[in-house]
Amino acid sequence: MAATVMFLLGVLQLGVLPCAMAQTVRLPLKKVYLKDHKESIESGIETIEERHGRGLAEVNITMTNIYDMQYYASLLIGDAKLNQTFLWDTGSTLMWIPLNNCSSCPSTNKYTPASSYSSTGTRHTINYGSAQVEGDVANEKVYISSSSVPVTMELLGVDTASSATQNLAADGIIGMAPAITEGRPGTLLVEKLYNAGIIGKNAFAIDYRWLNGTSSILLGGYDTDLIKNDKAFDWISLNNNTHWIVAMNTVKYGGTELSMSSTSAIFDSSRSFTSFQYSDFMKIWNEIKDGKDCGYITGTTVFACYCDSVKDFKDITFKLGEHDIKMPASAYFEYFAGTTSNGVCSLYINFYTVDFGGLVILGDSFLREYYVYHDVQGQRVGLYGKNYSANTSAFSVLVFIMLFISFHF
Ligand SMILES: *[C@@H]1O[C@H](CO)[C@@H](O)[C@H](O)[C@H]1NC(C)=O
Ligand SMILES: *[C@@H]1O[C@H](CO)[C@@H](O)[C@H](O)[C@H]1NC(C)=O
Ligand SMILES: *[C@@H]1O[C@H](CO)[C@@H](O)[C@H](O)[C@H]1NC(C)=O
Ligand SMILES: *[C@@H]1O[C@H](CO)[C@@H](O)[C@H](O)[C@H]1NC(C)=O
Ligand SMILES: *[C@@H]1O[C@H](CO)[C@@H](O)[C@H](O)[C@H]1NC(C)=O
Ligand SMILES: *[C@@H]1O[C@H](CO)[C@@H](O)[C@H](O)[C@H]1NC(C)=O
Ligand SMILES: *[C@@H]1O[C@H](CO)[C@@H](O)[C@H](O)[C@H]1NC(C)=O
Repeated sequence: MAATVMFLLGVLQLGVLPCAMAQTVRLPLKKVYLKDHKESIESGIETIEERHGRGLAEVNITMTNIYDMQYYASLLIGDAKLNQTFLWDTGSTLMWIPLNNCSSCPSTNKYTPASSYSSTGTRHTINYGSAQVEGDVANEKVYISSSSVPVTMELLGVDTASSATQNLAADGIIGMAPAITEGRPGTLLVEKLYNAGIIGKNAFAIDYRWLNGTSSILLGGYDTDLIKNDKAFDWISLNNNTHWIVAMNTVKYGGTELSMSSTSAIFDSSRSFTSFQYSDFMKIWNEIKDGKDCGYITGTTVFACYCDSVKDFKDITFKLGEHDIKMPASAYFEYFAGTTSNGVCSLYINFYTVDFGGLVILGDSFLREYYVYHDVQGQRVGLYGKNYSANTSAFSVLVFIMLFISFHF
């Protein structure tokens, strides 16, 4: 864990854009690659088993966090302004911090409650599907920089964490859903900043497009130096008021439309994979592996194909709302091991074994092609692709909606 954190420790810088019409705050977003997980299995990889698809449809696997990735940024907590890192999670609503009395928390940078911290005495558990954290609901000040004014957040002071949280590279998690479900605790950072007049819009944008670590979050708007105006985005309306969930009308592999059970999808920055329910996953996998050298990597639960054929794989196109949004093979396959000419590329699409209500989870392997604008006020998501240029006809409209659920990790 410590070695992982050392690699890509999030640095939160911020600056108010000088000539933006609305006030915005930029937070560099670090993509943490849990390399140690990858290395632990890399040495054992020589062959892809079950080539040409024989038998794979009968294999049920338990997904692990192998070569998982996490996005995080830092915030300052309490009067002491303790600098903690937070997994930036569009799929959940609550923020939590690890307390000094949490021996099961993976953080080595835990928070000692000071006078600015006030517990409400109400216990609460957050269930991320594979991981849980528990503690008292509390109010505490949160600063986005040492010179900013604080906002008071209702958050969870965690004293108990399940073993699955050991994969967390950040100290805590911050939920970035558009609203809190009635009756649930928590406040939303962006809404708080907006209400305090620190940012000009109840909205935020995340640039997921580059793998070289230059991703960023912009609170309060989108980068007008990158994206000229609203028309450049493909807009998708939310069909859920508490999560970044949108309607998913069709899924195609190349030109072939697949008959899917799922009809909606969630944008989830905390997932590396794009995940389907089992039957839907098998429909996609059967198309992908058809006539190709594919299978799963020996000793792991990772689906893979030989890299030399990645250029032959087709785009997966999701119709989200009214827009056809592409996920190219270069996004859903990533080099894993072996020589570059004859290596193994692993599939960043999988199926989930816990019930997510039939939602398709659009994780990093989908998001990494897009700049995503989360418009809370407009109840919509705007997608701007790697290949987009401000509203030219050369590119088809690609719209991605990011959906987030409060119970996965
Ligand atoms: C937290 O610490 C890192 C590393 O020193 C620093 O770069 C970052 O700006 C700090 N975050 C805040 C919000 O001050
Ligand atoms: C695999 O899991 C799915 C979803 O739980 C189930 O429907 C299917 O029957 C399982 N297949 C096998 C071979 O166990
Ligand atoms: C941990 O500390 C917090 C803050 O002081 C307190 O509210 C909570 O009850 C403590 N938890 C345990 C298990 O002692
Ligand atoms: C990251 O990649 C993008 C796109 O290739 C490029 O524009 C940007 O300059 C790169 N940043 C760094 C720090 O290499
Ligand atoms: C470009 O603008 C036109 C007219 O406003 C709009 O219909 C079209 O969807 C836009 N295209 C893109 C790629 O944003
Ligand atoms: C929104 O999505 C969540 C998570 O799937 C679900 O529990 C909730 O019922 C949905 N709300 C509406 C209004 O559809
Ligand atoms: C972007 O362009 C590249 C090169 O033409 C292509 O391989 C890729 O599929 C495109 N991505 C999307 C999302 O259209």
